[in-house]
Amino acid sequence: MKSYLSLLAFATLVLSQTALNPNGNGNKCIDVKNGVFANGTAVQIYDCNRTPAQQWVASLGPTTIRLANTNFCLDSTTAAPPNGTPMRIWQCIDNIAAQQWNFTATPTGGRFTLGNQGICLDLRNAGDVTNGNVVQAWQCVGTTYDVWTN
Ligand SMILES: *[C@@H]1O[C@H](CO)[C@@H](O)[C@H](O)[C@H]1NC(C)=O
Ligand SMILES: *[C@@H]1O[C@H](CO)[C@@H](O)[C@H](O)[C@H]1NC(C)=O
Repeated sequence: MKSYLSLLAFATLVLSQTALNPNGNGNKCIDVKNGVFANGTAVQIYDCNRTPAQQWVASLGPTTIRLANTNFCLDSTTAAPPNGTPMRIWQCIDNIAAQQWNFTATPTGGRFTLGNQGICLDLRNAGDVTNGNVVQAWQCVGTTYDVWTN
């Protein structure tokens, strides 16, 4: 039942903008650093503050992770980023591998994998939620550090 409910919650992502929280922590959000909407701005974890810098649009399955009401997308720099590559925003570009994620539901939330190559959207230092910690690419290893909720 729990997984069914979380699947329903994520289904709303298709239609609406939402915060993305690390593994059920509703006080922390994926955030565009300093709210600067420009190519290359870093993406970090930060206290949720309901600003546009924390509102994302995505959907289950193949998806971009777009900053709501903008044409900026969460971007992994390259098609196959090495472990530890910091995420950033960049203008959304159709079908570019660095912006093509695959969102799959887990029992408690969901994982964003880049393309189909086992690279996950991950929170550095074992999911450390300290403000400013880096949202990065890391090989998917089935930990909770790469589970995102809304
Ligand atoms: C941002 O990147 C896109 C695509 O690479 C480019 O077309 C655009 O000119 C860049 N924007 C700025 C302000 O440099
Ligand atoms: C997305 O993930 C699902 C579940 O792991 C998988 O079946 C599907 O092939 C993936 N799609 C892409 C485009 O990677």
